[in-house]
Amino acid sequence: MQDLDVNEITEAVIAQMATTPDPRLKEIMEAAVRHLHAFAREVNLTPDEWLKGIAFMTAVGQACTPYRQEFILFSDVIGLSRLVNVMHDAKGREATGTETSLLGPFFREKAPEIGLGDSLAKVAHGPEIVIYGQVTDADGTPVPNAEMDVWQTNAEGMYDLQAHDPSVMDMRGRLRCDAEGRFHFRTVKPLGYSIPMDGPVGELVRNQARHGFRPAHIHILVAAPGHRELVTALYFADDRHVDSDTVFGVSQSLVIDPKTGLADAPRADLPAIRYDFVMSRDTDGSGGRVGSDPSKLVPAGRVGSDPSNLMPAG
Ligand SMILES: [Fe+2]
Repeated sequence: MQDLDVNEITEAVIAQMATTPDPRLKEIMEAAVRHLHAFAREVNLTPDEWLKGIAFMTAVGQACTPYRQEFILFSDVIGLSRLVNVMHDAKGREATGTETSLLGPFFREKAPEIGLGDSLAKVAHGPEIVIYGQVTDADGTPVPNAEMDVWQTNAEGMYDLQAHDPSVMDMRGRLRCDAEGRFHFRTVKPLGYSIPMDGPVGELVRNQARHGFRPAHIHILVAAPGHRELVTALYFADDRHVDSDTVFGVSQSLVIDPKTGLADAPRADLPAIRYDFVMSRDTDGSGGRVGSDPSKLVPAGRVGSDPSNLMPAG
């Protein structure tokens, strides 16, 4: 029987886990234990604080539904999602490739298909804008027929998942670029929004006296055979939170500003944004997503469960 002091306990745990057959699981759990123990020693964690941490993680798990991912939100507000995204990007993005951004907790698979020039909005409750451009590879060669998923908040700053009936999809769509990689679609200018503040992550953000807002943005995922999936977002320059995003998603190259009078805009009557997306070659098949449709992350038995237990609008 060993008498384990505050440092020896760490080595004892790592020694017992040394039997782990999967080398990556072994590496990750060893580092997790080492860092977690060091953290507890650094802050001199008390039993009450340890229990508070357990209660917090329990509440985060309990807030998750097929339509809400509180753990992704937690990862987002502590910058872990951004960190994983940046590391993943550094491995797979070519130098001239479009920078990536967070997939976020509001992505949904199988959004409605829309044609070139169509609108994402079932009913436009705000001024329309048009977004257009071309998808190319890192050498500037057009990527034909790329598939594009687009999703955003409406003009009130709400995603469809936050509406009273989240099973209805709105303000999102899938379109196919033409043979030259060109695309255009209409939408309404989104509004920046507060992350959901009615759960444990919102409470944490409030306790930290942070504003909890994301600047207005449009999420875009571009996919084409032979290319790494591009997951990114475009951020509006005039949003007051563009420099203090609560989830750290903004990069300078992704900041946009709608303009009128662009010579090649497909609609002269609407403010327009031209943005050309540059895809990188798929070298390792690892894909571009850091995140998932929330419905894919709940235990199988809970998928499609009663959507009455959802995040309230707000
Ligand atoms: Fe978003």
